[in-house]
Amino acid sequence: MSHTITVLPGDGIGPEVMAEALKVLEASSEKFHFDIEHTTHLVGGAALDATGNKTPLPPETIAASEKADAILFGSVGGPKWENLPPEIQPERGALLPLRKHFGLFANLRPGSCHPSLTHASPVKNELIPNGFDVLCVRELTGGIYFGEPKGREERAGEPVAFDTMVYKKSEIEKILHVAFTAARGRDKRVTSVDTANVLATSVLWRETAIEVATQYPDVALDHLYVDNAAMQLVKRPDSFDVLVTENLFGDILSDEMAMISGSLGMLPSASLGNIQDNGLYFGMYEPSGGSAPDIAGQGIANPIAQILSVSMMLRYSLGESEAADAIDSAVQQAIDSGLRTGDLFTGAEGETRVNTAEMGQAILTNL
Ligand code: IPM
Ligand code: MG
Repeated sequence: MSHTITVLPGDGIGPEVMAEALKVLEASSEKFHFDIEHTTHLVGGAALDATGNKTPLPPETIAASEKADAILFGSVGGPKWENLPPEIQPERGALLPLRKHFGLFANLRPGSCHPSLTHASPVKNELIPNGFDVLCVRELTGGIYFGEPKGREERAGEPVAFDTMVYKKSEIEKILHVAFTAARGRDKRVTSVDTANVLATSVLWRETAIEVATQYPDVALDHLYVDNAAMQLVKRPDSFDVLVTENLFGDILSDEMAMISGSLGMLPSASLGNIQDNGLYFGMYEPSGGSAPDIAGQGIANPIAQILSVSMMLRYSLGESEAADAIDSAVQQAIDSGLRTGDLFTGAEGETRVNTAEMGQAILTNL
């Protein structure tokens, strides 16, 4: 088999962790006998710098990605570009348009905390004796992020700003199918998060969830209001299996989930479009953690989120699940052997502090 991907390292720690991820990808392609063709393109601040602040998303980047099976994304943004006009800032000018352009409506963010890493979680360890494993399924191309009208104007002598939260039933159905399907491969429980006591979009969301659930009689469905979900997530994270929710709620809850997992540097993500005839998805794969400008350039960032993003890509877009499994266990082995980048290092017995390249090398060796 031969696969084509575009690599968009971006800004901050993006290029550093991407370098390790690409080594792991190459090693897995040799071991599992598939070819990977990849080209690297500009995105985010790196693209702004290269184009004289013209665009954070050059047309070549989109064109190359259109021909690819998947996008492996690093991270974008940083203080250098924060004062540019909003529409060309890395996040609003590159990340959101990429999601929209490729119809990547389903954002999968696995938030897990392995029992060996519960001490890194800010949640009291006695609450999570066995760690936890939650999959957040966030709707990614609708809701208040993209709803029209949005804008700002002068009304009765003062500035007024507005955004619109809007969902079509078909959009809600699509993301719920993703959640129920994912649950079937896990513990078969879906928690749908909404604010059905206040928002019209949430009333439609809940109705639709109940309706879609009838097609998955083997999966249990329950509902939580978003404020309660935020609370339950820190109180009993191990009680959740799959969380499904709209764009803005998912943005917030997935950061909370990342935090209680111990380190943002561990969490990959997949943003997927429609399933294709071959059973695979076009997708964009990126660490949940962002560009971390405070530690960029020092070679100390945790490459695991980027490496696990490679594994998600192999699984969902390239159909190489054996290679994905092998990468997952190579990462787990590195953790089990006590290797810790700075974000995870506590100085406990059995821990060895390593940098980005050393962690990458250890995972490569395990593979
Ligand atoms: C994320 C990020 C983005 C989002 C920002 C950078 C636009 O926070 O991927 O969670 O809100 O979706
Ligand atoms: Mg976010």
